[in-house]
Amino acid sequence: MPKSKTVYICQSCGHEQAKWSGRCPQCQEWNSLAETTLRSGPSSTPVTSGSSPIRLSSATSPAAARLQTGISEFDRTLGGGIVPGSVILLAGEPGVGKSTLLLQLASSLSTLPTLYVSGEESSSQLKLRADRLGIETGNIQVLAETNVDSLISLITPNSPKTLNSLIIIDSVQTLTTQDSLSASGGYAPAGTISQVRECSQRLAQVAKAQNIPLILVGHVTKEGSIAGPKILEHMVDVVLYLEGDKFHSFRLLRAKKNRYGSDQEVGVFAMGERGLQEVKNPSDAFLSERLTSAPGSVVTATMEGTRPVLVEIQALATSTTLAYPRRTASGFDYNRLNLLIAVLQKHLKISLQNKDVYVNVASGFRVTEPAVDLAAALAIISSVRDKAIDPSTCVFGEVGLSGEVRKVSQSDRRTREAEKLGFTKIISPETVRSVAAAVAAARKVS
Ligand code: TYD
Ligand code: MG
Repeated sequence: MPKSKTVYICQSCGHEQAKWSGRCPQCQEWNSLAETTLRSGPSSTPVTSGSSPIRLSSATSPAAARLQTGISEFDRTLGGGIVPGSVILLAGEPGVGKSTLLLQLASSLSTLPTLYVSGEESSSQLKLRADRLGIETGNIQVLAETNVDSLISLITPNSPKTLNSLIIIDSVQTLTTQDSLSASGGYAPAGTISQVRECSQRLAQVAKAQNIPLILVGHVTKEGSIAGPKILEHMVDVVLYLEGDKFHSFRLLRAKKNRYGSDQEVGVFAMGERGLQEVKNPSDAFLSERLTSAPGSVVTATMEGTRPVLVEIQALATSTTLAYPRRTASGFDYNRLNLLIAVLQKHLKISLQNKDVYVNVASGFRVTEPAVDLAAALAIISSVRDKAIDPSTCVFGEVGLSGEVRKVSQSDRRTREAEKLGFTKIISPETVRSVAAAVAAARKVS
């Protein structure tokens, strides 16, 4: 008879403790601890043979054997392809295109057999999608299975099935194992933290032992965390986020964690009629809809990993009678916007307390680095004064609290990208020292 123990697991952060409490001591979430019974004993994972330490210098380097997927934006995000035996979590909101991307990926590995395990769609639904995408599917095996133990029996070495070069699990929230019990004694439902953790752990163990790369799909909640199991992020080697919204075609694949490469890389895709297409020149794509003579529009150069990307920052300042004027930022950090407004009021004497200010990054792009401050500041000024900025201007630089313009990383790469796209006037920390000087430089006719 397997032994079981009862623990309380926070459904928000995965914290585990022996006693119940109203608030999770780790993430401070109220009412998130759920009673869970963990079963250990004969039916849980078998003990593997003892391993012995080896010299690090004699360990084999996986980098040499990276698997090229044929989708270069995907490879780029991973740092040059999939490392055998790695466990990759692909997270994203429902409908963003995770299944589409993975089906295309599986097809792109045309000569290598891949196993697509779908707990969400039936094989005929997958076929329908593949037909729509117009992709080759000869190498893809599909399996509608949600029981992790039967799945593992299929991929262990003594199984009669052919060995796969990639396993895709869509999605991890549909997997179950019978060893994860709920408090009532029944099986914990799929998608609960104990199921997700247990299932992923087992799969990852097997995949690692077999040296087969494993891609797990994880749905993300509205708040942006991977539904419940934030804990998954610790267990896997690579965490990728597919971002984008329904209203724009652009999709960004970001590495949030990468044990085998930089976590700064970004892949850019566009969702179209035939699935996700790679965007080789994002700057061109992001600027394609720009109105060149509109007040409040400024082009900036932001770094996405090692790649400079030009995006358009738009600002709109309108009179308001509200006691607390509205400040709205979309694709831009809200606190940074408030900071910029304070700097403009204090150091440039621009009165914004009776104006609503909206800042938006065009094309649904999201910028996170302070290097875009100066562009946002100029966009706001441009809108307040209702004067368009010379369309051949590209602006970047961090704005400090004294109204100074601070240096940013990779200035030369940003400048080169801007020049490559035909921007002749570059306003950057190399050319101006303060926001006021930047305003003067923008006004000057070259
Ligand atoms: P999907 O891959 O099912 O999302 P996820 O697996 O992340 O939940 O993507 C579904 C969305 O993508 C759906 O809203 C329709 C859109 N889509 C296209 O625009 N073009 C296509 O060729 C395909 C297959 C999907
Ligand atoms: Mg899906």
